[in-house]
Amino acid sequence: MAARLLDGKSLAAQVRSEVKESVVRLARRGIVPGLAVILVGDDAASRVYVRNKTRACEETGVRSLQIDLPASVSQDALLRRIAEINADPALHGILVQLPLPSHIDAWEVMRVVAPEKDVDGFHLRNLGALVAGAPGFVPCTPAGIMRLLRHAEVPLAGRRAVIVGRSGTVGKPLALLLLQADATVTVCHSRTVDLARETLQADILVAAAGRPKLVSAGMVKPGACVVDVGINRLPDGSLAGDVDFHRVNDVAGWLTPVPGGVGPMTIAMLLENCIRAAST
Ligand code: GUN
Repeated sequence: MAARLLDGKSLAAQVRSEVKESVVRLARRGIVPGLAVILVGDDAASRVYVRNKTRACEETGVRSLQIDLPASVSQDALLRRIAEINADPALHGILVQLPLPSHIDAWEVMRVVAPEKDVDGFHLRNLGALVAGAPGFVPCTPAGIMRLLRHAEVPLAGRRAVIVGRSGTVGKPLALLLLQADATVTVCHSRTVDLARETLQADILVAAAGRPKLVSAGMVKPGACVVDVGINRLPDGSLAGDVDFHRVNDVAGWLTPVPGGVGPMTIAMLLENCIRAAST
């Protein structure tokens, strides 16, 4: 039997329509939510992600200001630009698209973004709040995954969650959110011995390693919920997730498609964070 599809596209559309309503409510208070998006260099994938984010802003009535800086920009110049946005009351959120060129210290960049404008949830204060279970901005991809799981009523408490990938933007924060939801969490990575032995234990399996079709049907426990965070461009130009969708579809109980699963939810959570930043 085919898995139930975790349809991020349709849930994200629902979130966007709620965001539109919030924009109307804020307008009555004279507030137009504003997001600054900084893109350094011209990485093709980052350009597409930024375009999708600014389009979603336009569609929902969140004002977006895209700031393109050359790959050669100095760290000081980038930090000064961020300081200007921190001081601009019309811009409530700041997003610095990652990755940054290697001569720029990304931690330093995250540190100077005002925590109350940190709609990506990457500032150490927001990451610290996440560890502590205190209120703060939560990184958008993990937040979007949790929203998808909750919407589909996937049981989490007491279940085994296995995350493949330990990035600071997805794997690690998601581990904390699943822990908060009372799952028993394992984080696997490139040095994990016998990955399949770990993934076969998973009631919830999240693939966030950036390796096309890493998760095969033989690595999935029958009935498990499989979340695919990967977006990999194959040599023939097509897109593939980290999960072998067609084969895993016959084994899993729930499955996210790529595209149309986690990606649209990431953007929807960014919009929600912008509304929150503008509301306070
Ligand atoms: N690059 C890949 N994913 C993200 C994200 O969620 N936020 C930012 N700023 N950059 C990214």
